Amino acid sequence: MEKAPQDFEDTPLKTDLSDCRNNRGPDWAIQDNLASLKRMRDEARSGGGQKRIDEQHSRGKLTARERVDLLLDEGSFEEFDVLKAGRGGHLQGEKEHLSDGVITGHGTIDGREVFIFSQDFTVIGGSLGEAHSEKISKVMDHAVRVGAPFIGLNDSGGARIQEGVDALAAYGEIFNRNVMASGVIPQISCIMGPCAGGAVYSPAMTDFTFMVDNSSYMFVTGPNVVKTVIHQEISFDDLGGAGVHSTRSGVAHFVLPNDILCLREVRRLINYLPSNNNQEPPLLDLRDPIDRKDPVLDYLVPVSPNQPYDMKVLINSVLDGAEFLEVHERFAKNLIVGFGRLGGKTIGLIANQPAILAGVLDSNASAKGARFVRFCDAFNIPLICFVDVPGFMPGPEQEHGGIIRHGAKLLYAFIEATVPRITVVVRKAYGGAYIVMNSKHIGADINYAWPTAEIAVLGPRGAAEVIYRREIQAADDPSAALMEKEAIYRKTFANPFLAAKRGYIDDVIFPRDTRGRLIRSLQVLEGKHTVRPKRKHGNIPL
Ligand code: HXC
Repeated sequence: MEKAPQDFEDTPLKTDLSDCRNNRGPDWAIQDNLASLKRMRDEARSGGGQKRIDEQHSRGKLTARERVDLLLDEGSFEEFDVLKAGRGGHLQGEKEHLSDGVITGHGTIDGREVFIFSQDFTVIGGSLGEAHSEKISKVMDHAVRVGAPFIGLNDSGGARIQEGVDALAAYGEIFNRNVMASGVIPQISCIMGPCAGGAVYSPAMTDFTFMVDNSSYMFVTGPNVVKTVIHQEISFDDLGGAGVHSTRSGVAHFVLPNDILCLREVRRLINYLPSNNNQEPPLLDLRDPIDRKDPVLDYLVPVSPNQPYDMKVLINSVLDGAEFLEVHERFAKNLIVGFGRLGGKTIGLIANQPAILAGVLDSNASAKGARFVRFCDAFNIPLICFVDVPGFMPGPEQEHGGIIRHGAKLLYAFIEATVPRITVVVRKAYGGAYIVMNSKHIGADINYAWPTAEIAVLGPRGAAEVIYRREIQAADDPSAALMEKEAIYRKTFANPFLAAKRGYIDDVIFPRDTRGRLIRSLQVLEGKHTVRPKRKHGNIPL
């Protein structure tokens, strides 16, 4: 005989299991409920079954669940929609899959909340159908509502063919949310398997894309379609592997050798970023003295103006603990961008690299820099700019490839940025490239120069050739005349002092003091407030 439920007032505090049993129903019913929940969860968790999991492992890939466990703090994952079932396709005999090939939920990275999805390639190739998309959309909505970063672990054959137009509509739902979340919360994509068709456009609209060497691919259409349509044979790797996307297309910002290191790097990136656009990035004290001087910097710039040196020496020297997270490390190496800390505060660093193509700005470097500047500006990350740039890359290849359009992106992005902006001119700052690289004239807040800086319209040789052309041609020894004129020009213009006299440079500093000066400048700019005219949005030259 079951005991009647008691009045609320009379209900004693439940202290042991037998009390619970007495109140809830017969033992066998409870056991049955628990058992079926466990069965359903186990079914959902088994993904596409052991055989497919073994296949996944044999390709050097982790499973969707293993990836979630590695990405998040231990035991922090809270899963949503584990029991949500796919609706099946329009073909006969389709099986319903619990979880529908994607794991979604939230957890923490070093104690800070993030929302995630992880596609399960063992279930219908991780392809995206309606229920799969609804699960992803739900966590995206949560992420925006609570203001937490959103991380997608992609391993998918794209739109689920069996679901027809519903699968295409499902992608549309995600694309909409990617755009609405852009600039509100950081969005990060990891490509951890083949990603084809619609599966590449969502990552392309997020802020950072990670790829894994030898096991991740991104293409709008795969090698088979390429063969059919343009009769070209090409391998997965050559078409859309991590190599091409990190060096040539610029689609991938980070490439790591395997899943484990990739997920570790995502955790590292998250540590530099605020959770949303209303927050400041997290402070992290690396116990590096603010006023630490580095005498090595006094000798960094070679005496010969044409001799290269490695800008990363300066970057590592000034940053807290010499820790620098480089973004787009393999793409357009003539411009370095990435995150570091100064006095514990995250900064975004943009620097010309004189060791590659003399640090010239070309189309790829301009687009790379522009995107990075815009990300930092959207997420309250101050910008630090180290300048050694001989100009924009000349020649028909760049001109016809749209360097005017791409260079304008960088110019536009800097001018648009309202975060604190500090520049140090280390050596060359010539012509348009001087203006573009965060000069005072386009709104930088504090501009320093080293004594080795050369701020001028052209480099000494080019300038002498133009302004002294007639005298050089008329000379008995034109090359000696050119050298003489070049020396005159260098003495007059190739230094920071003309710019300092005009106030375009706030101070010419000793290189060894750079770190301290930057940190003090960041402190004073903390209260910076800029008002911009109201508009729907600007029209950056895309
Ligand atoms: C349904 C899919 C699928 C898909 C893969 N599978 N992609 N099922 N829809 N899009 C299934 C396979 O049938 C297979 O099932 C299992 O997943 C594993 O796939 P394999 O082909 O065996 O794996 P692999 O050899 O590693 O090749 C992976 C792949 C390939 C490169 C992703 O499967 C592929 O080319 N898939 C199609 C890619 C594609 O064209 N997608 C549609 C893009 S159009 P079984 O049961 O046999 O194991 C698109 C439009 C969106 O996305 C537009 C928005 C703008």
